Formats: sequence, C-alpha cells, structure tokens
Amino acid sequence: MTTRYRVEYALKTHRRDQLIEWIKGLLAVPFVLHSQPTAVFEPRHGSTEEMASIAHRRYAEILRDVEELINDHIAHQRAGTENHSKLRLLVPAVSKFFTPLLLHDAFVYQDARRFISHRRFVAPSFNDIRIILNTAQVMSLVRAGPLQLVTFDGDVTLYDDGQSLTPDNPIIPRILGLMRNGTSIGIVTAAGYTESRRYYERLYGLLDAIHSSDLPAHLKQNIIVLGGESSYLFKYSDDAPNLLKFVPRKEWILEEMQSWTEEDVTALLNVAEAALKECVNNLRLPAQLIRKERAVGIIPAPGGRFTREQLEETVLVTQKILEMSDVGQRLPFCAFNGGNDVFVDIGDKSWGVLSCQRFFGGIDGSKTLHVGDQFLSAGANDFKARLACTTAWIANPTETCQLLDETAELDALQQRKTV
Ligand code: IMP
Ligand code: MG
Repeated sequence: MTTRYRVEYALKTHRRDQLIEWIKGLLAVPFVLHSQPTAVFEPRHGSTEEMASIAHRRYAEILRDVEELINDHIAHQRAGTENHSKLRLLVPAVSKFFTPLLLHDAFVYQDARRFISHRRFVAPSFNDIRIILNTAQVMSLVRAGPLQLVTFDGDVTLYDDGQSLTPDNPIIPRILGLMRNGTSIGIVTAAGYTESRRYYERLYGLLDAIHSSDLPAHLKQNIIVLGGESSYLFKYSDDAPNLLKFVPRKEWILEEMQSWTEEDVTALLNVAEAALKECVNNLRLPAQLIRKERAVGIIPAPGGRFTREQLEETVLVTQKILEMSDVGQRLPFCAFNGGNDVFVDIGDKSWGVLSCQRFFGGIDGSKTLHVGDQFLSAGANDFKARLACTTAWIANPTETCQLLDETAELDALQQRKTV
C-alpha cells in the first residue's frame, strides 16, 4: 500500500491535472450507472438515444454544480478567503479563476459535436473535459465583452514541435481575424534568441501575411513576440529588417523584474548547468549542453532522441535542485521538458504574459487568454501563465485553430444577441 500510494499520489501528481481528474471522477458515476454497453448485443435495454438523453442530462447537471462551486470559489477569492472555499477543500491544487466558467453550456456545445453521452464503452475522458473547459473559458470571455489580448505559445500550439510557422499554416487567417477585431496578440515562447532574424525564421509565414495584409497600420502594431519566456521583446514593424523591432528590456519590464540582477542570473544558470550535467552523467545521456545568455538546456546529440523517462527525470531533478538553492528562492525560473530537450529559462510565462499586458497599456487577466500545450504542474512551461490570465490547454496546432473558430462563432452569436 505504501509503495502504491507513493507511486500514485506522491510521484505522479505532476502528470495529472487535479481539477480535470476530479471532474472526470464525478462524470464516471453517471457513466457507470447509465451507459448501456450490453445494448450492443441485447437491444431490449432501450434505444441508444434514450440512454444518451439520460446521460446527457446527468452530465449537464454535474457540470452545472461544478460551475456553481467555481462561482463560490470566485466569491471567496474576492473576499480574500479562497482557502475556505469548498472547491479548495475538494481540489487543493486549484488556483485563481479570472472569470466564471460556463461549464453547463460548454458541455451542451461539445456534446453536440463529440457525442460524449452517446458512448457506451468509453467514459468522459481527460480530453473531453479539457476541451469542455476550453469552450467554457471562451464562452465566458466572449460574453463579458471583447477579448483584448490573446497570447500564444509557439511549439505545438502554433506549429509542430521544432517547426516554423510557414505561409500555409491555417492559423494565419485566424490570427489576422482576431487582429482585425482589435485583439492584441503576444507570442510568448520559450525559444530565446537575441536577433530578430531567428524569430523571423520561425514565424515568417505570419509576419509576411501581416505585412501584405490590408490591416490598418495601427492594428498591425498590435502583435509582439516575447521570447525566452519573459526575456526578449520584439514588436512588429512594417519597415524593420525581418519585420520585427527589438525593444530594450528597460522599456517594458515590470517593476518586480528590475530586481533580477545579472549576478543572480549567472548564479542560477550555473546551478542549472551543474544539475543538467549531473543528469547527463547519471543517465548516460547522449546530450549536448547549450548555454545562452538567459537559458541553459540539453538537446540530443545529432540524430538522437531522448526517451520520455530521461526527459522527465532530468527536468524533475533539475527543478528540485534549483528550488533548494538560495538563488532559486530569489529569482523566478522555468525548468521544462520541451518534447525532445530540457531547458531552464530565467523568468517564466506568467512574467511573459504580464509583460504583454503591460506593453499593450495594462490589460486585465480576465480579458486575456493564453493558449498553450504545456499545463502540467511540473516540467511544463505554460502552467505559470495561469497566474496571469485565463488559459486554454490545447494538444496540437489543429486544436488551436478549432478554438479560434469557436471563439469567432461564439463572438458572432453574442454580437447578434446584443444588436
Ligand atoms: P515553446 O513551446 O514555444 O515555449 O518553445 C519551446 C522550445 O523552444 C523548446 O523545447 C526548445 O526546443 C526551443 N528553445 C530554443 N531556445 C530556447 C531557450 O533559450 N529556452 C528554452 N527553449 C528554447
Ligand atoms: Mg509549446
């Protein structure tokens, strides 16, 4: 029992999302009670449609109840007593909610597309719930008025891991659509380069499309790239080389970031480098170490790949060593598993998103959406964005497109209602 407990709860919590797992557990009960797997060979158990309508009603009721618990948690947040909320007791890991989540309506919307309540053998899954949460978030943002800022992660969110945003990427017209509506865009990526050329190489499809579009000049300026999580800011500029203009750090960083000294940056990267080297030796990794001005990482030797276990072990060991170090207490950092590399960056995406909000004149977290693929609590770099704004957790670039289509569809519906 002790061993099983340790494995299931103590060592695997970083690979689970507590809120999603909890909702999954709640929905498993009506699934077990109402799904009709035997109807496949015993038709007398009633029609699939009947079963589906009962399951739909039960799932929807549960999601309405969860929605109410989140509203109660938000009321506690406002009163400064979020630790006393019932939701915090049930799901200790829940953090701040910037808006209510319209879970009931989102379930109805997704059930009409995914036919979750029609299923007889497969219970509501992690992915079903993740997608319902995304829709609920978008519904809530759209109902509260115009979305002012969308920040996107790069790899896996806008393009496949390690690839570039090429001119044929279907995300391009969707981002242009957001900009046309006056929404500002931030690309908040871990990829940390000091020259605009490197970002142009990764993002040229989008940057060229903005350049040749008929967007008015003041709207074209509403896109920035924040690289190295929260280290390098480039703003779009029609006449800059590579269409990106570097903005010196002192012009955009937040007050709190001014206390991040160069000595601490070097000290933290030294500790991180030693931790990574220790993992390379211990696991005999065929790795190459990369040290940059504000990051250190390992990538596989040419032609190689790391296994999931090697990546996870390295990121968890490195994160622990940094957390235990003096400098790790003073300076925010982000250690994460990049799919086939491990990096430690100075700062994290909460600072990246907060900096975008400030750059665009002080946008609130409840008017900002961060879209990313890495939301597990350890070894994932989009997770920290939850401290700064609302979020959507996607699994691949196609889902990002679907999310933006949903946003546009719900927005159009909302406009019609208000006219
Ligand atoms: P993201 O998904 O856009 O945040 O990009 C993460 C990927 O960027 C990592 O997995 C790395 O492959 C790559 N990368 C390039 N330079 C850096 C860096 O300085 N820090 C972290 N990741 C980097
Ligand atoms: Mg990513």
